[in-house]
Amino acid sequence: MNISENKVIDESIQGQALVMETPKTTGKKLFLESYGCQMNFSDSEIVASILMEKGYTTTTNFEEADVIFVNTCAIREGAESKVRNRLNDFKRVKARNPNALVGVLGCMAERLKAQFLEQEKLVDLVVGPDAYRDLPNLLEQAEDGHRAINVLLSKEETYADLTPVRLGTNGVTAFISITRGCDNMCSFCVVPFTRGRERSRDPESILNEARDLFSRGYREVTLLGQNVDSYLWSGGGLKKESLTEEQKAASVNFSKLLEMVALVNPDLRVRFSTSHPKDMNDEVLYTMAKHENICNNIHLPVQSGNSKVLQMMNRGYTREWYLSRMEAIRRIIPGCGISTDIITGFCGETEEEHQETLSLMEIVQYDFAYMFMYSERPKTLAERKYADDIPEAVKKRRLQEVVDLQRKHSSVRTHEGLNKVHRVLVEGYSKKSEDMLMGRNSQNSVVVFPKENYKKGDYVNVLVDKCTSSTLIGTVVK
Ligand code: SAH
Ligand code: SF4
Ligand code: F3S
Repeated sequence: MNISENKVIDESIQGQALVMETPKTTGKKLFLESYGCQMNFSDSEIVASILMEKGYTTTTNFEEADVIFVNTCAIREGAESKVRNRLNDFKRVKARNPNALVGVLGCMAERLKAQFLEQEKLVDLVVGPDAYRDLPNLLEQAEDGHRAINVLLSKEETYADLTPVRLGTNGVTAFISITRGCDNMCSFCVVPFTRGRERSRDPESILNEARDLFSRGYREVTLLGQNVDSYLWSGGGLKKESLTEEQKAASVNFSKLLEMVALVNPDLRVRFSTSHPKDMNDEVLYTMAKHENICNNIHLPVQSGNSKVLQMMNRGYTREWYLSRMEAIRRIIPGCGISTDIITGFCGETEEEHQETLSLMEIVQYDFAYMFMYSERPKTLAERKYADDIPEAVKKRRLQEVVDLQRKHSSVRTHEGLNKVHRVLVEGYSKKSEDMLMGRNSQNSVVVFPKENYKKGDYVNVLVDKCTSSTLIGTVVK
């Protein structure tokens, strides 16, 4: 997933079919398609590693697959309808090959559980995000003609010991999950129900993964969690809630983890997502400022610019608190790239409250934003407590206003990059030409420049002299 473009997303990121290479094969072919957030894509790499162990190979053509897995997202209604529509396409495969199996994995599987099997006759397996180790068993059951389901959530599972198979990779950038689940209970959000309780992964396994990636030529890792700032490792078995202040101080928090990963190698860049405004502290910002290889880029979702709406969203901060965090970022990391998520038309949002979102955007001038209309999700606090009372047309109009303003700010931010030298990690060819390479600067903006003799994985200094609204263009300087 790429957070360098401003997108209006009323459902999650496009599904992507992924390919992997396997050492030993059973001749069975897996088609694996992922929807949703980076964490879901990262989970698909765990799924791929489990099936690779069982001798599967992959295909990008679902028509020839023996097993079709869709790793799903439940964040908004649109994300779910997309998967339902996609299932129709898979009917063709079953018509031709009655032995082919269709499995629904991930957040929608967890949300709907056995209902999914009732509603979609086509589906043979329903597997929640904490049950992937059980996939080989479940596949056996399904091969024997029994529909198979495992949606148990775990308080411990982090898949720490599994080495993910890198899917659809550019060989330069990779994701590393550091936490699973979420304990925050934002009132609009389905994630705590689909991903379960928050748990942190052993830092040693994170460092090993980072070292292994570096040794295989990767030069950038993005540490992933729904709220990376609440990462806390106090040794296996110890629960965050029951720790004394002393034990907490002796634990590895996010700032310490970030530093440990940064020290793996100065040529390994480190990014992370998502930061939570209520938990992002100055210690993290000082760690970012201290290490050249921790990218100056923070994804800090605000959701709304109005304190009453934020309270109804159960976000745990006010407009003033958020702006004070922004002030700290600007003070400690001048020139830091900032992106956000915004929801328009949340329950009871008045026109004035919406205007406060626009005014907050004017103050911050985000580099990028993901912008959504509120979509009511079953079982969430908001669904139980508040009426989804903003008409669709109003949600849409407000979204358009947010999008238009963001477009203006993105362009302003991109233009600020003109006539400056940017340190860029090369990721591959530019979309338009094989004579041009593309990479990102520390702030996560895309930079394009003539290829010359440079290649993927190189760091280059690019003097930018042109730009479009979201891409910087220049030439390498020594
Ligand atoms: N953990 C991250 C967000 C993960 S979900 C955080 O706390 O910021 C990604 C984004 O989807 C959210 O930031 C929010 O903007 C959006 N989102 C979540 N639930 C939504 C809903 N019910 N309707 C519309 N947008 C939603
Ligand atoms: Fe959802 Fe809130 Fe957790 Fe983010 S922090 S995943 S929005 S509950
Ligand atoms: Fe979607 Fe689940 Fe991620 S609901 S956004 S795939 S955690």
